[in-house]
Amino acid sequence: MAKISIDRSRSVGTISRFIYGHFAEHLGRCIYGGIYVGKDSPIPNENGMRKDVVEAMKAIHLPVLRWPGGCFADEYHWRDGIGPNRKRMVNTHWGGVVEDNSFGTHEFLELCRQVGCEPYITGNVGSGTVQEMSEWVEYINSDGDSTTVQERWANGRKDAWNVRFWGVGNENWGCGGNMRPEFYADQYRRYQTYCRQYGDRKLYKVACGPSDGDLKWTETLMKNAGKMMDGLSLHHYTVCGSWQDKGSATQFTREQYYRQLQATFKTEEILQGHCAIMNRYDPEKRVGLIVDEWGNWFNVEPDTNPGFLYQQNTMRDAMVAAISLDIFNRYCDRVYMANIAQTVNVLQAIILTEGAKMVLTPTYHVFDLYQGHMDARQLDCFVEAETVGEGEFTMTGVTASASEKDGKVTLTLSNLKADEGEEVVIRLKDETIAKAEGRILTGRMDQYNDFGKEEKLKVEPFTGFSIRDGSLTVKLPACSVAELTIG
Ligand code: AHR
Repeated sequence: MAKISIDRSRSVGTISRFIYGHFAEHLGRCIYGGIYVGKDSPIPNENGMRKDVVEAMKAIHLPVLRWPGGCFADEYHWRDGIGPNRKRMVNTHWGGVVEDNSFGTHEFLELCRQVGCEPYITGNVGSGTVQEMSEWVEYINSDGDSTTVQERWANGRKDAWNVRFWGVGNENWGCGGNMRPEFYADQYRRYQTYCRQYGDRKLYKVACGPSDGDLKWTETLMKNAGKMMDGLSLHHYTVCGSWQDKGSATQFTREQYYRQLQATFKTEEILQGHCAIMNRYDPEKRVGLIVDEWGNWFNVEPDTNPGFLYQQNTMRDAMVAAISLDIFNRYCDRVYMANIAQTVNVLQAIILTEGAKMVLTPTYHVFDLYQGHMDARQLDCFVEAETVGEGEFTMTGVTASASEKDGKVTLTLSNLKADEGEEVVIRLKDETIAKAEGRILTGRMDQYNDFGKEEKLKVEPFTGFSIRDGSLTVKLPACSVAELTIG
């Protein structure tokens, strides 16, 4: 039996809704085919955006979308993607396919309008110029009668979009230019100077941060540019084995299931390391940690383009999403945004498409179950559970998050055991629980939703709990993620 104790008097702060953010790169079938099919496609669309995919994004209130990369961002020249004559290029990072730039700035911002989310645009530092990024901000945000703004008018858009989130480069220690932290810190200072403020909406500028445990990068950036940034990014993928063989997304043993989950818990150590440095330079916690790429990275599915990073998505992915989101929620005093990689058809996708067909993955359903935490006050939530796992891959058997909004407490809790149920007793410290409602996602660890088959994995109403003496006793099935609304 496990126990969860929620203390409403203790909180580290508000859980930013942007922790539930997403990322869409010009990579494989994420944008083309997955999101954008063009106005003339037989697939139902509005202004070229797939209606089914946009509806799915709206249903989870997807709050922010990062674009155009990724590595692609540092070879993307935004003028190639506006106006009637779009330049063709070869996407040398991802699959060597022709990029016809039919999805550009106007299309991305139209997508965000349809979804109702904030855009988060990453500028090109690796192969671009300060002028190019500066003019992109001007093109999108200015109302002044300049030649650049006139170009936007000529392309059919009168009003400025007022985009708030701007990333200054991506992985500039690697695919974004192989820079040293000292050099990038200076580049960041320069580029951000010319990302001008137009109108009243203050820009939120994100500096490129480290990958995983590169503390030197964080230290150098915070020391030399900390005062000029609003956010510092961090990328962390859960990869087991080697980069050459990361394992299959669907064919795995129980030991490999636990290995992936245990590796995900390491995200907490990584956050701790970077947060400790940020706390030294920024004790007021003004600068947000922006985990703008995270998730499982497995081998591509057989017979697919290795440069397209297409992988299926099982209940193991759902558990990894739940563990990760619980960690981000606990660190919400520093983590302001997180963007799972990537929205459609790439890596740990929430949506998969095949022609006109669409499948919602178990990871999608975790984002659905966690919606109650968006912009809610995080609550201290103490979990006592027995250790689970196999061999050297052991961890707590239950992970959870609690928050409060509009007088209601949202508790999300997951039973990580692959094939055994778990009873969990939940208490609200110094209070009694009078009523609760529940929803759940559960299935076999390697089960997934597939095209043309019944969608077995989905959120269902959950009634497997009882209230006695003011506390809740929940019977969680094996491998499950549940949401309880209390009060
Ligand atoms: O998400 C795939 C790639 O992973 C991104 O383009 C890059 O930023 C990271 O290395």
